Order: sequence, then structure tokens, then C-alpha cells
Amino acid sequence: MSQKVTRRQFLNYSLMGVGSFMAAGIILPMGRFAVDPLFQGEAEGAMITTSIKVDEITEEPTKVDFSFEQQDGWYKSEVTDFAWVYKDGDKLIALSPVCKHLGCTVTWAGDDANPNRFFCPCHNGLYEKNGKNVPGTPPRGPLDQYEVGKSDGFITIGELKPNELVN
Ligand code: FES
Repeated sequence: MSQKVTRRQFLNYSLMGVGSFMAAGIILPMGRFAVDPLFQGEAEGAMITTSIKVDEITEEPTKVDFSFEQQDGWYKSEVTDFAWVYKDGDKLIALSPVCKHLGCTVTWAGDDANPNRFFCPCHNGLYEKNGKNVPGTPPRGPLDQYEVGKSDGFITIGELKPNELVN
């Protein structure tokens, strides 16, 4: 027994097929967009290579810029930051420039009266070279520390962590 497909049925099937195909073409990318950040792997622990050579680093803290891509939900942006990096013997030390009082930026030797300390100009905060906050000034804790290393002769900066130099 032969089953004939009428012209009307053929048109219905064709339209349903094309419609489904078009709907999938629209819905699938939207679904992917909606859940995309959930599938993005975190690049935790990754070291960022800077443009500063290890040889340029001395025992005097030096400003070392670095930039990285930051994913904030669906928004991706390039963030530039810096660390204060110096040598302690053979060891590299990298400190965060963010003041532990209210988050201003500290500078090395920024105060003439304290040439060998970090200085925060917002409320006259002071830190020793290892990041220890000077008692009697506003900051209540030491500067955070970055993981620091070298790659092909250049300084690399990693994760921010609590200061391990201060007892
Ligand atoms: S923000 Fe640095 S001392 Fe207040």
C-alpha cells in the first residue's frame, strides 16, 4: 500500500523542518551565552610575565607593572596593576601597593622623613620594607605579598597572598 504525501503535508513538514533549524540556530547560541561564564576555567595560579628583567631589580623596591585579562560575569577586560619588587639576597620579594587602611596606593620612599619605608599619602600610613605596618600609623596590617618568580630572565607575578615576611 502506498502512502502519498499531499502537497499540503509536504509544505507543513518542510516548514516545520526549516523552522526547527532556524529556532535551534537562535536558541543554542543564546543558551551558550547564558551559561558561558560557568564553563570558563579559572586561570588560578598562573604567573604573569612582566617586561621587567630580573637584572633590573635591586634591593630598592621597584615598581613592576603587569596586566591580565579579568572576567567579570560576561564582561572581559584588561586590567593593569603593579607590585613593588625587590631583592632580599637571592630572593625576590613582591608586595602589593594597596594600603591596608582604606586602599590607597603606597609609594616607596614617598615621605622625605621616612626614606626607607613605604608611605601612604592618604592618611600618612607607613610600612617597613617587608610590608610590616608601622605601629602608630593608620594601617592595621602588613601589605599583601604577590607570588613572584622569573621566566627567561623576566619577572613573573602570580597570586596575591597574605604577607609571610612579617611575624
Ligand atoms: S588609606 Fe593608607 S593610610 Fe589611610
